[in-house]
Amino acid sequence: MPRFFGHQFVHSRERAASVCFLSAMGSSGRWILWTLCVCFTALENVALRVTMRESSLEVIQGDFVVLPCSFFTSSPLSRLNIIWTLAPFSSPETPLQVIVYDHGQVIEDPSLIGRVGFTGIPWSADIILNDTRVSDAGIYRCMVNNPPDPADPGIGELVLSVLAPPSLPVCQWDGHTDMGGSVTLSCSVAEGVPIPEIRWDKLNPEEISLPINMQGDLSGSVQIVNVTSQTSGLYRCSATNLLGTENCYVNLSIYSTPGGSSGILQGVLLTLSMSLVLLALLVLMVWLHRTGQNGRWREGKEEEDVCYNEIRYTASLMKRSFV
Ligand SMILES: *[C@@H]1O[C@H](CO)[C@@H](O)[C@H](O)[C@H]1NC(C)=O
Ligand SMILES: *[C@@H]1O[C@H](CO)[C@@H](O)[C@H](O)[C@H]1NC(C)=O
Ligand SMILES: *[C@@H]1O[C@H](CO)[C@@H](O)[C@H](O)[C@H]1NC(C)=O
Repeated sequence: MPRFFGHQFVHSRERAASVCFLSAMGSSGRWILWTLCVCFTALENVALRVTMRESSLEVIQGDFVVLPCSFFTSSPLSRLNIIWTLAPFSSPETPLQVIVYDHGQVIEDPSLIGRVGFTGIPWSADIILNDTRVSDAGIYRCMVNNPPDPADPGIGELVLSVLAPPSLPVCQWDGHTDMGGSVTLSCSVAEGVPIPEIRWDKLNPEEISLPINMQGDLSGSVQIVNVTSQTSGLYRCSATNLLGTENCYVNLSIYSTPGGSSGILQGVLLTLSMSLVLLALLVLMVWLHRTGQNGRWREGKEEEDVCYNEIRYTASLMKRSFV
């Protein structure tokens, strides 16, 4: 007893049967023989066929999805064999066997155990994929064999996309925040399907959008040259796709006085030159002091005389006063 799966195949099979019946009503034995031959060929040609009810599907990460695969076969299902494979978008060259049905047994890929299962075995090859992940995205192939039916074709294909909101972007800055310096703000986001759009905005004093240089799809930077005190403020990077937006921020403070390493160097030079000046002053003072002492020593003799005179004078004065 042939089995029918899928409406279109029931239809064609019925037509084949009726052609057979009408021909058998013919009078000529030759006719009957020819018709039987045609019928036999027709029956032989009713090969196993696989149809995918969808050629592509989208699912949001974490949700479940049913991957449909219908087949029609005219043979008993005792030797039915179904293999689902996945060529992931992330590594198309290493396909994996998602799930296998063979001789009534179901074998799942170890990495998918507990997340994948047949929903209508053995009458349909549909599978359910629970708790979907971005890594589940790729090209799924459903291969059905049911000997002795020839397969025509025994393979169906569908593309699964797993959508995910952007992950939290990472904001960084680099450069010189002293006046006249240049600063690079960079932002990168690890995940998001479809690929998130990255933008940079300065939030205060008013919100302005900044021109962005993309480095690949997932990171973008903004270069600010010749920074001034007006450059200071809060900057926001946002990563947006149709599932949402995530932001990170950089708070930039531009020093109005020279700072950073060049400032330190200037400070060191200033200190050094000041020390030299002080040293010079010290030497000068010492020299002046010494020359001053010499002068005073030389003058001292005269002063001694003067003093002597004075003393003498005073003595005489004293004498006078005592007298
Ligand atoms: C998928 O999830 C549904 C509902 O949570 C559950 O009934 C079903 O058994 C799960 N299937 C597999 C293969 O884990
Ligand atoms: C930096 O800005 C100052 C003041 O606005 C300007 O005089 C100078 O030419 C600018 N330098 C560069 C390299 O743009
Ligand atoms: C940014 O930094 C400045 C100076 O350090 C501070 O006054 C201001 O509150 C900061 N703003 C935010 C949003 O963190």
